[in-house]
Amino acid sequence: MEKKYYIETYGCQMNVHDSEKISGILSQLGYAPSGDEYGADLVLLNTCSVREKAAQKIFTRLGQLKKLKTGKPGMAIGVCGCLAQQEKDLFFKGRPYVDMVFGPKNISDLPALLEELQRERKQLLALSGPRQEPTFEVETVLRDARFKAYITIMEGCDKFCTFCVVPFLRGREISRDPHSILEEARRLAGAGYVEICLLGQNVNSYRFEQFDFADLVISLHEIPGIRRIRYTSPHPTDINPKVMDLYASLPKLCNNLHLPLQAGSNEVLKRMKRDYSSEQYMEKVEYLRERSPDIALSSDIIVGFPGETREDFQRTMDIVRQVEYSGLFSFKYSQRPFTSALKLEDDIPEEEKSQRLSELQEAQRQIQFRLNQKLIGTTQEVLVESHSRKDAEMFMGRTSCNRSVNFSAPGEILGKFVQVQITGAGPNSLIGRL
Ligand code: SAH
Ligand code: SF4
Ligand code: F3S
Repeated sequence: MEKKYYIETYGCQMNVHDSEKISGILSQLGYAPSGDEYGADLVLLNTCSVREKAAQKIFTRLGQLKKLKTGKPGMAIGVCGCLAQQEKDLFFKGRPYVDMVFGPKNISDLPALLEELQRERKQLLALSGPRQEPTFEVETVLRDARFKAYITIMEGCDKFCTFCVVPFLRGREISRDPHSILEEARRLAGAGYVEICLLGQNVNSYRFEQFDFADLVISLHEIPGIRRIRYTSPHPTDINPKVMDLYASLPKLCNNLHLPLQAGSNEVLKRMKRDYSSEQYMEKVEYLRERSPDIALSSDIIVGFPGETREDFQRTMDIVRQVEYSGLFSFKYSQRPFTSALKLEDDIPEEEKSQRLSELQEAQRQIQFRLNQKLIGTTQEVLVESHSRKDAEMFMGRTSCNRSVNFSAPGEILGKFVQVQITGAGPNSLIGRL
């Protein structure tokens, strides 16, 4: 009988795409997807460790899977992704029901691990060092969508922001050969994909010999069939004029940029080792807006970093109000293993962190509502991404600036570009008419 697998994915788009690669490997081995863990012979948790909560969730989930396995002894449980890389064989301690642990760079070891597991029931570990070449590509990728696709262009991070565990788990920056990237993009275009999203932990520090991130985007722009190019996630320091100028000259480059600020106060930025000041950050925002007035900017913010005063936090609020982000991901600081911020006392009380977070999120909600209201009456081109499960005529499409628009249309228009007139707006989405 055909074996079935179930993958649960946590964390960022890098992990989402890694799960697509893992699914591809499993399908080649003859596994079929299972809709849930109950029908699966192999359950994989593709984990994240960027914040304490993300890591806690995995341990809770493993407890549930343990119970399931008690009634299904043939089932295999694997843990992969960033928390696997962090915990190493510690994962096995007190968890005899976990069959394998493999790191983000060990995806291609999966066939060997499964084969070994067949031969002998023992706990298997596959982890690579920080300088090991990642699995940029596998033979088959089972992609979630039929018209938009992720492409890994680099992995790892050399920035070592003091709060962040990612460089310790994803290793040093390694860029993929542009020939292989362009070949993958051409293949995707040939298969009908119209949107590509370039991935890397520090995507725009991409460099392969003399060929840099801007060169890569320019080359990808020439591929017929590709109509939209996105990328995530960049670092403000590597957003240089060469990259910023692309927004005005390349129509396929989507009109939004994620520019993670983290904090508004220069003292906090320094302690975070973000290597830019709020003034330098704002210069880039102004440079971009002068050349591409409609560009939508989004950001990540951490509140309650060690030593962050009320005044420091006000600087964050000031910049958020000044920039008017179209989207914001905001988090309470939590201590992470290996990071140098561990040396600083985590001194902002939990209630104060929560207070700052909700102030920030409320201000952001109002900004988004106002920005979205301004779009009422305009006509936007959207790529139709999904339809409502309840109502077959309700669709969701995304604008170039990454806003989602809900509208109704007769017939099947999934994967098509359509023009939608905006008739209504909330803080998180728009309503439109085809
Ligand atoms: N490479 C990306 C970030 C990846 S992590 C970048 O540089 O922008 C995604 C976000 O998680 C970060 O931008 C940061 O806002 C948040 N984050 C990372 N470590 C954190 C920590 N220890 N506590 C709270 N938030 C954190
Ligand atoms: Fe983490 Fe900083 Fe690297 Fe982003 S740039 S992954 S926040 S260390
Ligand atoms: Fe999480 Fe690893 Fe991404 S820690 S945010 S899954 S790089």
